[in-house]
Amino acid sequence: MSKYGKVLSLVLIAALAFAVIGLAGCGTTTEKPATTEEKPAVDLKLVTAGQLTAGSDTSFPPFESMNGDVAEGFDVDLLNAMAKEMGIAKTVFKTEIFDTLIPTLKAGGKFDVIASGMTIKPERALEIDFSDPYFDSNQSLAMKTGGKYAAPADMSGKKVGVQSGTTGESWATENLKPAGATLVPFKDAVQAFSALQAGNVDAVVNDLPVTAEMVKDTTKGLAMIAQIPTGEQYGFAISKDNPELKAAINDALAKVKASGEYGTIYKKWFGVDPE
Ligand code: ARG
Repeated sequence: MSKYGKVLSLVLIAALAFAVIGLAGCGTTTEKPATTEEKPAVDLKLVTAGQLTAGSDTSFPPFESMNGDVAEGFDVDLLNAMAKEMGIAKTVFKTEIFDTLIPTLKAGGKFDVIASGMTIKPERALEIDFSDPYFDSNQSLAMKTGGKYAAPADMSGKKVGVQSGTTGESWATENLKPAGATLVPFKDAVQAFSALQAGNVDAVVNDLPVTAEMVKDTTKGLAMIAQIPTGEQYGFAISKDNPELKAAINDALAKVKASGEYGTIYKKWFGVDPE
């Protein structure tokens, strides 16, 4: 072997050794638990350090409602699971009137995220950012059991309850008002359904999964009379000043979906597997 050949083989051996060490190195990295690799919690801008504070109209079961002073529901469990994924120990839900959620988030300082069954809408996205969609929804019309509704004209001369500032209100404004209905706005969905039960309104237009929950107890004498396909998707809302949080939320949502935890939470609140 020439001198040149010897040098070349030494170089090759060294390169091989490097490759082996390199590979071994990779092996250890992947074995590390994911949490030690990413620590976004440290870098994230949060209203209160160490917790994810959510603004929510907590009168919207099964997405969010108050059980004593504890918020519960699909959104609560999902956001909790996502916070864990983000390395944040806990979430705190602050109750706000739905109408005020976007301006309050925009103003800053009160909560980090809106978790309130909020439909992703282009007009809203001008004010705040939305996460990737986390739930598919539609509208519905509820009346007293036995009520009839086939077309908007059936609401002519009738009082229709809606929740202020919602997509249900928008749909009713566009479709039922021109047909001669009087819209009655309520602060939250629970109040709209109480008014329906009391006979103060003739119908309620509201998000389908929530209406399904509200009419479940048949002793109330209420029923979902029509499904209204609007093809809505819920998203978490984040301030446009906090793109890092938005990225972390989307990342956590994807992980919670992939791990199967999303499916477990869905089944807990809706009794079926997600589609
Ligand atoms: N999805 C509808 C909307 O975004 C209604 C949401 C109401 N949410 C609530 N927590 N009250 O307008």
